[in-house]
Amino acid sequence: MKPVLNQIELSPKLQQTSTRTLHAERGMITQSWTPLGNGTSFNAPQITAIAARLGASPAQVILKWHQNLGLSVVARSSNANRLRENLAAPELTLTAEDMHQIAVLHDGTRCGPDPESFEIE
Ligand SMILES: NC(=O)c1ccc[n+]([C@@H]2O[C@H](COP(=O)([O-])OP(=O)(O)OC[C@H]3O[C@@H](n4cnc5c(N)ncnc54)[C@H](OP(=O)(O)O)[C@@H]3O)[C@@H](O)[C@H]2O)c1
Repeated sequence: MKPVLNQIELSPKLQQTSTRTLHAERGMITQSWTPLGNGTSFNAPQITAIAARLGASPAQVILKWHQNLGLSVVARSSNANRLRENLAAPELTLTAEDMHQIAVLHDGTRCGPDPESFEIE
């Protein structure tokens, strides 16, 4: 039976292009865990420039990038104000150039374990 959804680590630094393509070809939803990359690209110049132009936070820009890619997102915050901020991210509008600027941030950096080498204890 084909899975409906696959939850994978996915952030601006780990864009998972081939896996997203594979999911799309099979009609599966890609769901991003650690979607903010635990903040590791909040200070990237491309993100801060877009955020400054839109009057948004880096986290909002990244969450909107996920949405524009058609991804389901599991973001986490323990702070009520940041939760509200994150929930408002869909109100932003990113241009094609913004999406391109974020696309170049991919460098393969993971926050979690690599499924290729993950060992079950
Ligand atoms: N399937 C899996 O193996 C797997 C593995 C890991 C995670 N997950 C899922 O993914 C969810 C998120 O993962 P994650 O917590 O590792 O990573 P994340 O969502 O990329 O990052 C969470 C971090 O970002 C901060 N943050 C959130 N919103 C922010 C904002 N607007 N401005 C500034 N900082 C912000 C949070 O701090 P504050 O709390 O202080 O706001 C927290 O330190 C988890 O809750 C879990 O459900 C799944």
